[in-house]
Amino acid sequence: MLSLLYLMPTFWSGDAAVAYQLGFQDPATTTMEGIYLFNLHLLFVIISIVIVVGWLLFSVLTNFTEFDNSDVATFVHSNPVEIIWTTIPALILLSLASPSFSLLYSLDEISNPELTLKILGHQWYWSYEISDFNSCSESNQSLKYSSYMLTNEFLQENNSIGFFRVLETNKRVVLPTNTHLRLLITAVDVLHSWTIPSFGVKVDACPGRLNQANLFIKRFGVFFGQCSEICGVNHGFMPIVLLAMPSVQYHYLIMTNLHFN
Ligand code: CUA
Repeated sequence: MLSLLYLMPTFWSGDAAVAYQLGFQDPATTTMEGIYLFNLHLLFVIISIVIVVGWLLFSVLTNFTEFDNSDVATFVHSNPVEIIWTTIPALILLSLASPSFSLLYSLDEISNPELTLKILGHQWYWSYEISDFNSCSESNQSLKYSSYMLTNEFLQENNSIGFFRVLETNKRVVLPTNTHLRLLITAVDVLHSWTIPSFGVKVDACPGRLNQANLFIKRFGVFFGQCSEICGVNHGFMPIVLLAMPSVQYHYLIMTNLHFN
């Protein structure tokens, strides 16, 4: 009986992907909230159109058959009908375009960031750099680390029950919440894509090109993502784990040891 539950599509989930999931993960940024609401708006319009068109098709098939033509229309042309069937779709398109454009332009907005995280895609792991704290570290070097996936064998050996298979990494990205952040994304070898569904962030990492994205995390938590650009055999095995913590704690962490784990 319990196993049947796993067959049910999951509509709501936390900050990691879930088996048979249909809906989005919980939004953690205003960006993702916007995307989420826009998706609901689109779904409403799409379902309404499907119902209206389905009803039209059904009524045409049942009312206007070859054998029963007692209900014959007496006109071959109608201006009002043409006006209606051009303006209504145009208005529907307008109602889709206006929230879509405002959302698109709001994603492009770059506000003055407090911190910059540089993200490098490799075959097949991610590495990260933070250079904002150079002057406070003794070595005066930027904070650099690579984050590799934890294998199933490792998780089993260490009895890591409750960990997500193929989603956990040895080191997590740590970022502060309620602060404007800048992401700089690039790749070292081939195309990758840095994605965290809860943030609504999916930015291609292109070799020889620096892509920029802004991020404002609204709540603390551990967020999971995966590479989203086919990049070779281990494409499915370069996950992203991000720990978002309140700015004060983050600042303390940076000042005390400059060490992430
Ligand atoms: Cu890296 Cu797919």
